[in-house]
Amino acid sequence: MKGKLVILTGAGISAESGLGTFRDPGGIWTRYPLEDVATPEGFARNPALVHGFYNARRAQAATAEPNAAHDALARLQRLWRDPVIIVTQNVDGLHEKAGAEVIHMHGTLAGALCAACGARWPAPMEMAPEDTCPYCGLAATRPDVVWFGEMPYAMDEILGHLEECTLFAAIGTSGQVYPAAGFVQEALRNGAETTEINLAQTDTSGAFEHHMTGPASTVVPRWVAALVG
Ligand code: OAD
Repeated sequence: MKGKLVILTGAGISAESGLGTFRDPGGIWTRYPLEDVATPEGFARNPALVHGFYNARRAQAATAEPNAAHDALARLQRLWRDPVIIVTQNVDGLHEKAGAEVIHMHGTLAGALCAACGARWPAPMEMAPEDTCPYCGLAATRPDVVWFGEMPYAMDEILGHLEECTLFAAIGTSGQVYPAAGFVQEALRNGAETTEINLAQTDTSGAFEHHMTGPASTVVPRWVAALVG
């Protein structure tokens, strides 16, 4: 096989690095109401609570290490002759730590964003409601993550890649959050092969032609080895 590959990753790829997923038993959204910590309305109501939530996740991500699945995708990106586009919904930065280049469609914990002027800069470990923007000086800083009700980043670029890819793979994502959950349909419309790698069945499993079931840290290296040897 040759041609462009598009790989979508979700929280499941980082589970074995010790970072919790969202919807599995004990997952983040079973412990925190997402309306409170992952919506613009929740942030407007209680910015200290939301900063606290992301400060804790930033601290946890900073000590986490990529696992064999992140490493294998970085290797695939190095060895495949054509472009390998990794689109992640994860904000943890583990793909980059493994040496891969990624599109962060849901933003990143490593970034801060000014809600007033739109400036971006590297986030400090701890953000607080009274922090001021280094560009416009207003106390309107927020984590550079995409919340429910907001438009994910780089959608035009991602849809362009999906139009051109020969293979689309989704790894460790439940297929419950759009627009990412619709990428498999876009890829199929354009004639791409589709592979899902997950521990379990998902809401979108039926759309994929191929399935590899098991923990990402063992299945992804096996899949990459089959592609690049
Ligand atoms: P979810 O928590 O919804 O789904 C995690 C998926 O990973 C499930 O399908 C699990 O079966 C699978 N999984 C768990 N452990 C795994 C392992 N070791 N190997 C392989 N698969 C495993 O997480 P996402 O699909 O990433 O958005 O969630 C999508 C978005 O919803 C997130 O980006 C976040 C969340 O709300 C925002 O915060 C905007």
